[in-house]
Amino acid sequence: MSTPARPAVPAVADAGRPVPSPAPGGVAAVVVLAAGEGTRMRSALPKVLHPLGGRALVLHALAAARAADPEHLVVVLRHQAEAVAAHVAAGAPDVLTALQDDVPGTGRAVQCGLEALPADLAGTVVVTYGDVPLLTGATLRRLVAAHAEGGNAMTVLTAEVADPTGLGRVLRDATGVTGIVEQKDATSEQLAVREVNSGVYAFEAAALRSALARVGRDNAAGEVYLTDVLALLRAAGGRVQTLPVEDEWEIRGVNDRAQLADLAGEANARTLRRWMLAGVTVTDPRTTWVDADVVLEPDVTLLPGVQLHGTTRIAAGAVVGPDTTLTDVEVGAGATVARTHGSGAVVGAGATVGPFAFLRPGTRLGEDGKIGTFVETKNADIGRGSKVPHLTYVGDATIGEHSNIGASSVFVNYDGVSKSRTTVGSHVRTGSDTMFVAPVTVGDGAYSGAGTVIRKDVPPGALAISVAPQRNLVGWTAAHRPGTAAAEAAARAQEPDPTDRATSGTSTTATSSTGTSTPGTSTAGTHRDGDHDRREN
Ligand code: UD1
Ligand code: CA
Repeated sequence: MSTPARPAVPAVADAGRPVPSPAPGGVAAVVVLAAGEGTRMRSALPKVLHPLGGRALVLHALAAARAADPEHLVVVLRHQAEAVAAHVAAGAPDVLTALQDDVPGTGRAVQCGLEALPADLAGTVVVTYGDVPLLTGATLRRLVAAHAEGGNAMTVLTAEVADPTGLGRVLRDATGVTGIVEQKDATSEQLAVREVNSGVYAFEAAALRSALARVGRDNAAGEVYLTDVLALLRAAGGRVQTLPVEDEWEIRGVNDRAQLADLAGEANARTLRRWMLAGVTVTDPRTTWVDADVVLEPDVTLLPGVQLHGTTRIAAGAVVGPDTTLTDVEVGAGATVARTHGSGAVVGAGATVGPFAFLRPGTRLGEDGKIGTFVETKNADIGRGSKVPHLTYVGDATIGEHSNIGASSVFVNYDGVSKSRTTVGSHVRTGSDTMFVAPVTVGDGAYSGAGTVIRKDVPPGALAISVAPQRNLVGWTAAHRPGTAAAEAAARAQEPDPTDRATSGTSTTATSSTGTSTPGTSTAGTHRDGDHDRREN
């Protein structure tokens, strides 16, 4: 299957709003703060590495930052810096990392970030947080444009919120914004202010540097507050303005796992909405989860209970669900995948999977193929039009085109030491309960009988059979399980038909329906020693 092209879908947050182009001179740097400890997460994993929509929080922040098109992009780390730096290096290799020292506070974090950049850095510096995942690049570009238009020393992204608890309050007088006061340091009058500081700002680089050098730690937290530069900049004659953001979600940070879940739910709702507006049917958005990097084509249908993770791509007209979880799976156009758990798999166009299938990495199902019910596959290349319909394990196998694997078969790939591969040709039909003991090859057009254990290669066009002739030990149940319900049932089945007796008046010795004489009913249960009574047919 060819990889579906990524469709051009507008981000929902941008819809209907003009997005300004970056300021003249552009953005010199975005500094993303991520040095905080994140204690309220109560986690061994650094806070900014917790995933939301399949992507670490810090990578969401970096994606928004990148949209401001900065010359330099730097993330400031301290707590578990190595782990975060490694993740950033893997997911965003062009991003610089800076380490914050022992001095606490957002102001110190920005200072440390600037130290990683050229000393003569000039122009606009944007500051954002690594734990604010729903901030969009469009909002950052609006901030930068407002900053340039106003000729500001500092532009603060703010929001009116219903509950400002814990956030810095924006203070104003007749001349404009005069400061930001933290919850801990605020008077009761200041606490009543509902306009809050988002923690996202644009600054003029030189002014920021000199103001930061003058910020002390004389506050309730004993930290270097970035917010203190506001008053210093104004005192030095700089202009400070705010840019209100209407969508409160954009500035919400993650401090604990309850907030993480809230933000993840909102991000998911936005992702689903974006895809629905792009032509995807989502039957039940409340039970459907789609990661940020998943790609869906128009006329895809997602039934209730679907989770799509990682780099999963679903092509036009495919129906996924209900109750299906796919991670890094490609589903071709018009395919159906029902009640399936899959990862690292490719499902061809028009193919059907499930219900109740388990697709493990390396599964490739060809066009119009079928992986049916209670089937597990791994490293399995199943060709166009081939079917594995029921109760089967296919591991380390290549199956050609238009072949059919009988129910209840196993590709026996593991001898306890090493794994081996099985190759099945095209137009092969294997009987139910066939065991393919790898390594083994079954040629084109070959058949196998039910219950065959294939240990040797089967030439093209051959019928493989390995079962011994069947033996029936007649009367065995009566002889060896006397008095059981089974023995009684067998006896009843062997009784002469009473209507026969009425018409013919003769009593017959029981004769099985296969024409073999069996012990008569009068003696049933008396021959217990058996062997001399055994007859085979
Ligand atoms: C800060 C603002 C506050 C604003 C709020 C928005 C200050 C003094 N206060 O609050 O006005 O309403 O953000 O969320 O700036 N960080 C570091 N190094 C540090 C401390 C923090 O990198 O030494 C990072 C954290 O990792 C986090 C961000 O800065 O990403 C904000 O830190 P946090 O402690 O959550 O914010 P507050 O200081 O409470
Ligand atoms: Ca915070």
